[in-house]
Parts: sequence; structure tokens; C-alpha cells
Amino acid sequence: MKLAVNPEYEKLLPKVSTLEYSILKESIKQNGLWVPILVNSEGVILDGHHREHACKALGIPIKYAVREFENKLLEKKFVIECNLIRRHLNDFQKSELGISLLKIEIELAKQRVNQHSFPSNEGKHKGEATELTAKQIGVSRGTFERAKKIIDEAPEETKQKLREGNPHTSITKEYQKLKKVEKRNLRQEEIKKLQVNLPESVTLFNQEFQSVSIPDDSISLIFTDPPYAEEYIHLYEDLAIHASRVLREGGSLICYVGHYAIGKIINMMESQGLEYHWIISVDHSGPSASVFGKGVLVGWKPMLWFTKGKYTPVEFVKDKIKSEFQGKELHKWAQSTVESDYFIKHLTIENEIIYDPFVGQGTFGVSAVKLKRQFIGAEVDAGHFANAERMISNANHI
Ligand SMILES: C[S@@+](CC[C@H](N)C(=O)[O-])C[C@H]1O[C@@H](n2cnc3c(N)ncnc32)[C@H](O)[C@@H]1O
Repeated sequence: MKLAVNPEYEKLLPKVSTLEYSILKESIKQNGLWVPILVNSEGVILDGHHREHACKALGIPIKYAVREFENKLLEKKFVIECNLIRRHLNDFQKSELGISLLKIEIELAKQRVNQHSFPSNEGKHKGEATELTAKQIGVSRGTFERAKKIIDEAPEETKQKLREGNPHTSITKEYQKLKKVEKRNLRQEEIKKLQVNLPESVTLFNQEFQSVSIPDDSISLIFTDPPYAEEYIHLYEDLAIHASRVLREGGSLICYVGHYAIGKIINMMESQGLEYHWIISVDHSGPSASVFGKGVLVGWKPMLWFTKGKYTPVEFVKDKIKSEFQGKELHKWAQSTVESDYFIKHLTIENEIIYDPFVGQGTFGVSAVKLKRQFIGAEVDAGHFANAERMISNANHI
């Protein structure tokens, strides 16, 4: 009988790598063919396609055995199980086979229900079948569920990396990436539902702050968070020029800065006539970030405080503040309102003007509106600007 390979089975099973094949061939060369090639009565190879290939290449006599199954589902199940037992598969490859196995188990369960007219309880059966399949393929239920999400939603390139056991990724990492995107999309959907209805006390500009027209000596507090990467450092120079013009006498500029740039930024501000006042430590709420080049585990963010002319303290303020993670689904650089709430509250009074030239998703505008201050903001990116408009319009309800 002429033997054939079923293309459906071939597609289903993980490809045998060149290395895997050469190890198999060497083993057959040394030890002969231990396990016969299994075929069905139609001559379709169920197990041993590569062993057969290796035997032919080595000129070793091949043993065949015929296996019959009650139906095609059971045959397919057998083909998958053979691969699970014989191959050294990683958790992702096992899970891919697990998905096919799970579909078969669910189908078989349905058939049993129909045959015996049991009441259907598909949800429960699905849960149990997932648990059983995970056990059968030898991974935890959690790993199987995570891999399942990747199989359903991740791009082919990601799946291929996992099949190949790429050391730079893992099921957990790829699952977390998908969850992050899911969370971001969900948040974006929620935000889109919010109405834009800015209070009169707020003016927002969808443009570069450098070209925003703001009267001289009008702003009490610039509270802002420019991008801190080295390539954006020139923005602090522009901020210094802008702030020295628009701040009122005795007004303050508080800006987040990268640790690496503290000295440079102080020089930039002072060269525009602003006075260095203090440094503030914003303590991270989550785990420390590692800066590899410097060998430092960073646990805090610096904020620099400058003043225009003589600053007259009204009350004492803390120079160390514990931040709180509030999500970065809308903006990857979003800050928390904890810092802006505190400094806006303690450095200004109601109706004074707070200005943020780098609005992002509008975090500091939200604080200003909640605290009944006037607010001016500039944001160059249209997407972030649209989010900021919605966030600030709804400052008292989010
Ligand atoms: C670090 S993020 C600010 C995040 C913000 N604090 C928040 O919590 O959402 C800096 C923002 O400044 C914007 N930006 C960069 N250059 C700008 C410019 N010249 N004028 C106005 N906005 C600018 C970026 O698009 C980005 O959204």
C-alpha cells in the first residue's frame, strides 16, 4: 500500500528542527528502529513520519503497524498524544497542541451528551476540559490559559519566537504585553465616552508651547513634566526662556527632570535669570527601575524648583513626597496627581493661574481644576491633547 501524510496532521504538529531530525537519525543508526511506524487502514501515517524518513535514508528495514479508531476525532487525538509523548516540546508548542486537543475533547464531550441525552452544561465542561487538557500536555492551567490568549491574539511573529524558544521572550512576557494593550484600549474607550466641556477657567492649546501666546508676568506656578530623555534636553532651554517671561514676580517653576541632567538644567534656568530654589524627591510607589549603564536601582524621581525674583513662603512644604501609580494606559509618561495636588494646593491660592507647557494626558490640569485654580496647558500631540481635554473636562468625576 502506498503511504501518505495527512496535510491536516502535518499542519497541526510542531515542525521538526534540523537538529531534532539529525539526533533522531543518529539514534536510529545506533539502535535501529524500536517503535514501528503507525498507519491507519487507508495508509495514512499517524506516528513516525520522520522515523520512516530517517530509516529510508539509512537503508534500515522499516516496521509498520496498523491502528484503527472508532472515529476521526479519536484518531486525531492519538496523533497529537504521540507527539506530546515523543517530542521535546516547550510549553508554548505543547499549548498549541493542547488547543487542538481541547477542541477534540469538547467535541467528544458533546457527542457523549447527544448519545445519552444528558442535559448540556457546556460552560462547566469547557472549564473542566481546559483543566484536563493542561494536565494532559504537562503545563499548569495558568500557563495554558496564557498561551491560549497568545495563540488567539498575538501576531504570527510572536508565536514563532515562542515556538523557537527565543530567550528574549516568554509566555508570561507576551501575555502581559497583550493584557497591557487590552487595558489601554479599554481605558481609551472609557475616555472617548467622556464629554468635552472645559470650564471657563481652563485654556488648552494644541500646539508647541514655544508659540503659545501668554501675557508676561501672569503665571503663579508652572508645574510641568517635559520629556526627559537626552534628545529632548533642549526643551528645558526653551522652557527657561518661556518661564522667565510668563511667571509673575515671586512665581515658581517646578519641573520633573532626569537624574542625569540636574546640573545642566540648573545652569539653563539660571542663565535665563530664574533662581534655583530646591530639589524635591518623588518616591516611586512601585519597584525600583534599574539604570544599567550607571549600575543604579532608582527609587525616586527629582523635581527641580526655581523661582522668578524673590519668593515669599506662605507655608512650609515638604521636599519628599510619596507618589502613587495611577496607570499609564493613556500616556506612557503620565504622572500621578499626588505631586501636582500637593504643590498646587500649597504654593498657590484659588483662582491663581497654573500653567503646564507639556500637558500630556492632562494630569496637572485635573489637579488645578479640582483645586479651583485657573489652568493653561499646551500639548503638541493631537491624540494626547484630545485625551487631556476629556480628562480635564471631567476632573471632578474621574
Ligand atoms: C512627559 S509627557 C507629559 C506627561 C504629563 N505630565 C501627564 O501626566 O500626562 C510630555 C508631553 O509633552 C509633549 N510635548 C513635547 N514637546 C512639546 C512642545 N514643544 N510643546 C508642547 N508639548 C510638547 C509630548 O507630546 C508629551 O505628551
